[in-house]
Amino acid sequence: MGAGILGVGHYAPDKIVTNKDLEKIVDTTDEWITSRTGIEERRIAGDNENSSDMAFFAAQSALKDANINAKDIDLILVATVTPDTPFPSVACMLQDRLGAQHAAAMDVSAACTGFVYGLVTAQQFIEAKTYKHVLVVGVDKLSKITDWTDRNTCVLLGDGAGAVVVGEVSEGKGILSHELGANGAGGRELYQNENDHLVMNGREVFKFAVRQMPESSVNVVEKIGLKKEDVDYLIPHQANIRIMEAARERLGIAEEKMAKTIKKYGNNSSASIPIALSESVKQGKIKENDLIVLVGFGGGLTWGAAAIRWGK
Ligand code: ACO
Repeated sequence: MGAGILGVGHYAPDKIVTNKDLEKIVDTTDEWITSRTGIEERRIAGDNENSSDMAFFAAQSALKDANINAKDIDLILVATVTPDTPFPSVACMLQDRLGAQHAAAMDVSAACTGFVYGLVTAQQFIEAKTYKHVLVVGVDKLSKITDWTDRNTCVLLGDGAGAVVVGEVSEGKGILSHELGANGAGGRELYQNENDHLVMNGREVFKFAVRQMPESSVNVVEKIGLKKEDVDYLIPHQANIRIMEAARERLGIAEEKMAKTIKKYGNNSSASIPIALSESVKQGKIKENDLIVLVGFGGGLTWGAAAIRWGK
């Protein structure tokens, strides 16, 4: 038996902020944002809508999809860099709200790679047979750490949550390989400053990402003795369409074989991969036995990828 995804769910706040809306608050244009990033609009959470609220809606949806009762969850892992409070963790808040009283709970901090880190951690517990069901959530309310006067960053970011239930699947299915990495020396390229704002050296992060995402995508496929041609579907972190295209081109797969939610959500950090996964599953773009690759990068600097044979 292996460890795989039993159910998916996601949540995005109702409020839509378009590029035209941003033209009114910073010196930018719809044309610049669309052509340089692929983003047309993003969702922004309400003042009273926190990461734990978004995580709750996504988690409820994933539990329903997996047909699993909250009481049967053994562990909750929440990937986030924008918890409601440093402690208690979002995972503990979620445990209470879901009524998952048998679950251990903790947050995972690996910025935009957090969901992949969480997923791989869940896999270890399932394969070791320590736990039967692990709920993994990626959630971020980046709007609360966004400097709305900085055109270099504010046009890129959005809020949202995505969730999966990880459990036992039959041999040959599920998470077949992974790669996780970090380079702490690159921490200065993307961080939260003393004003709690996200600060980024866009060019350096871009260079790192266009190198790392394609490399990690190929690595996880080669680790299981397959070739890049065997990949049916790619789910990259939705940070910039040009970075995503670099990964797709390196794998040599068709345009429609890559998840693209960036246009309507922007970059929602830990939530971007699970939202793209959940939407792709619900739209029927991922089929039983497909080989899918999830790949992300983010602050830390961190990166991570997983190759998954879809199905239970
Ligand atoms: N509107 C108009 N002009 C802008 C804007 C904007 N919103 N932002 C920057 N510019 C300007 C810059 O000031 C610069 O002007 P200058 O030449 O006079 O200095 C010019 O556009 C070009 O800047 P570049 O940095 O070269 O633009 P580039 O094409 O690299 O795009 C971008 C910038 C989109 C930030 C790109 O570097 C990128 O995507 N980097 C990676 C970002 C990323 O992936 N972050 C992920 C982590 S964030 C997170 O996950 C939470």
